[in-house]
Amino acid sequence: MTPLSVTACVLLLFVPGQRARESDQPGPPPEQQSTADPYAANACVTCHRNLAGRSAEIVDLEWVNSVHYENSVGCDGCHGGDASLQREQFPSEEAFKQAAHLARNPEFLSLHGDEGWFVSRARGRSMSYFCGRCHTEIMEKHLGSPHGDFGDPSCLYCHGQGTHAIKHATTDIIDPRPRTEAGRCSLCHQASTMSVLVDIKKVLDQTAERIDSSAASFLELEKMGYRNLALGEMHHHTAETHSRLRRVFHSFNMRDINELARSIESVAKQTEYAHELVAALHKARRNQTLVSIGAVVFLLAFAGMLGYYKHAFCEQYDRSEAILPSTGRGERPGSDR
Ligand code: HEC
Ligand code: HEC
Ligand code: HEC
Ligand code: HEC
Ligand code: HEC
Repeated sequence: MTPLSVTACVLLLFVPGQRARESDQPGPPPEQQSTADPYAANACVTCHRNLAGRSAEIVDLEWVNSVHYENSVGCDGCHGGDASLQREQFPSEEAFKQAAHLARNPEFLSLHGDEGWFVSRARGRSMSYFCGRCHTEIMEKHLGSPHGDFGDPSCLYCHGQGTHAIKHATTDIIDPRPRTEAGRCSLCHQASTMSVLVDIKKVLDQTAERIDSSAASFLELEKMGYRNLALGEMHHHTAETHSRLRRVFHSFNMRDINELARSIESVAKQTEYAHELVAALHKARRNQTLVSIGAVVFLLAFAGMLGYYKHAFCEQYDRSEAILPSTGRGERPGSDR
């Protein structure tokens, strides 16, 4: 048997045993397992999950795979209504639904009433206010952009592609493909504005890379003992710097985007410069250390040589002393050996 097949046999013997042991372990009791779903008692989720068609899809295919689910934003976070109600409190499904929807279901209603609010659908500019309850700065930038002004594309056109499965945003949303390849931006944009769009994507990608590479240099600088409050401001908060860029971008205003990109570039340049200087200083110090080590080695060698000569000289001296007649006092202890 080769060592490999021995290992394989050992593994085969071992794995089922371990599985058995794992399943033997007492799990949480069934009722505790069901409350592991934080939405198990959420009125919107429990009812909509069991509705036929679109609703079930929204809950179990789209929303559970969204960044909002990940961050505990439920249906009521966006649509409002009362998610805390329970079926047992009502005589019928219809009454339960009416109460959860706050008994109103027309189009866009006032967002902030004392008695609560419920928004069923949002379109165009109203979508921006709908999402802007939480994403305030982006709402402002978006509403001031050509898109917000036009009312299209909406937040959801870019981020959800029309569904509830809103994901982490990346610059891949900026889609330079032509209309013939189903490009999502070329639906409205001709080749002439598509070049602006490609420029924005480039600036965003390059600046994001700059933020990260500069932060890495700064970390090295700090390891070398370098401190700088002004540079640290940006590098200790890279997530916030990324986010700032990504928020400002929603103005779709090249001047604003470039201005922020330039200020980030300037911090990155200063960091690079400091990195070069400090690295050079360290190299010089290392060289200096080499010189000092050289000097010490030389001195040690010199001392060793002196020692040797002293030893040789003293032995000679001892011997010469031994032939001299004894003076009778202070006889050297080694001389009679
Ligand atoms: C007892 C069941 C029930 C509960 C509880 C419930 N809904 Fe509904 N909801 C429905 C039904 C039925 C419809 C209409 C059919 C559909 O759209 O699938 C609906 C429609 C909707 C719509 C779409 C309205 C439209 O104009 O198309 C939204 C949005 C919605 N509900 C959100 C919520 C939210 C948010 C909650 C929790 C606060 C909630 N629902 C609680 C049953 C319920
Ligand atoms: C991030 C905000 C957000 C969250 C969270 C959210 N929705 Fe929506 N929902 C929207 C928006 C925006 C629309 C309008 C989109 C459209 O009609 O194209 C919408 C539309 C709907 C509609 C009607 C439109 C349709 O496609 O039939 C229903 C029903 C609905 N949502 C149910 C839910 C349920 C149930 C949940 C919780 C599982 C939920 N939503 C969570 C933003 C959200
Ligand atoms: C034309 C397409 C488009 C529209 C319209 C749009 N976004 Fe974005 N959004 C993007 C892109 C692209 C990014 C990522 C940019 C990057 O990675 O540099 C982004 C990033 C984000 C982020 C991440 C911000 C952060 O702090 O990291 C959020 C949140 C967001 N958008 C929400 C919204 C909301 C809310 C609206 C509507 C008010 C909206 N977006 C409208 C394309 C769009
Ligand atoms: C109840 C508050 C709330 C509402 C309303 C809301 N969001 Fe969010 N959203 C969040 C939270 C919380 C996060 C996670 C933290 C973050 O990234 O800002 C998030 C994250 C996001 C992200 C991912 C950002 C990233 O990290 O790349 C996008 C995109 C986004 N939301 C778009 C939308 C859109 C589009 C709407 C409207 C249809 C919307 N949001 C409505 C709270 C909300
Ligand atoms: C529903 C139509 C529509 C869609 C889809 C659309 N845009 Fe626009 N966009 C416009 C309109 C309208 C303007 C303002 C007029 C113009 O500059 O063409 C505009 C302007 C812009 C500008 C400013 C151009 C300039 O010269 O200053 C940029 C950049 C831009 N859009 C990027 C995008 C990106 C990226 C996408 C895809 C995620 C996209 N757009 C999708 C309609 C759209």
